Amino acid sequence: MPPSPHGLPGRFVVIEGVDGCGSTTHTKRLTKALREMDIDARLTCEPSTGPIGGTIRQILQNRLVVADRSGPRPFDWATMGLLFAADRLDHLDSEVLPGLEAGKVVVSDRYDLSSLAYQSVTAKDATSVVPWIRELNRRAIRPDLTIVMDVPAAVARERRESRGGDEEIYDSRDLQERLVAVYARAEDLIPGDRVVHIAGDAGVGDVAARVLDAVREILPDTTDS
Ligand SMILES: Nc1ncnc2c1ncn2[C@@H]1O[C@H](COP(=O)(O)OP(=O)(O)OP(=O)(O)O)[C@@H](O)[C@H]1O
Ligand SMILES: [Mg+2]
Repeated sequence: MPPSPHGLPGRFVVIEGVDGCGSTTHTKRLTKALREMDIDARLTCEPSTGPIGGTIRQILQNRLVVADRSGPRPFDWATMGLLFAADRLDHLDSEVLPGLEAGKVVVSDRYDLSSLAYQSVTAKDATSVVPWIRELNRRAIRPDLTIVMDVPAAVARERRESRGGDEEIYDSRDLQERLVAVYARAEDLIPGDRVVHIAGDAGVGDVAARVLDAVREILPDTTDS
């Protein structure tokens, strides 16, 4: 069991990847599996369910736009970076830190790796973006483990299409293909963090078992079984 990067009694696990990688499916399954092992687990997500998270979701769904002189347009990448960073601090205060202080395993569907990935593929100059997004998120504690679900762009797209729902601002084919490449080298974006890649295109049960194996490695001795 490695030492915890945040020094709190709980453990903080993040699942990440492109849209349709299965992060929602597997954060839910992981939380359920941990509870079945009598481990106190809390499921949470970003964008959070708080007020800034709610605003971000409306922007993602194109229901909230900027009133530009030339007409309505989506918020630009830098504004999104600021909103996601603000939501993250709110999410940490309201959900993550209280859970970790209470000794829970907090499982988050996305965290700051999403900001680094999505903002770097939507900005004009990706190289200068990463240090800026890191600085905005400097107060965000490091997770004990980040699991990246690697799924080919075509598989993720098929899943998104079969799930239905309205198109969101990050849904374009080109953007999602670039995101797959960014997530494949996630370690470059969060150097020093513990990152485990799992192939997310295997069967759901197999993927869930691999996720649980990765999480067992970071559980405190008292809950390790
Ligand atoms: N390993 C898997 N094999 C087959 N289907 C899967 C697998 N994992 C998830 N799915 C299915 O793919 C779809 C997308 O999964 P999910 O909603 O968890 O993705 P997501 O990454 O959370 O997407 P988004 O980021 O858009 O919310 C769901 O219908 C889910 O049942
Ligand atoms: Mg999801």
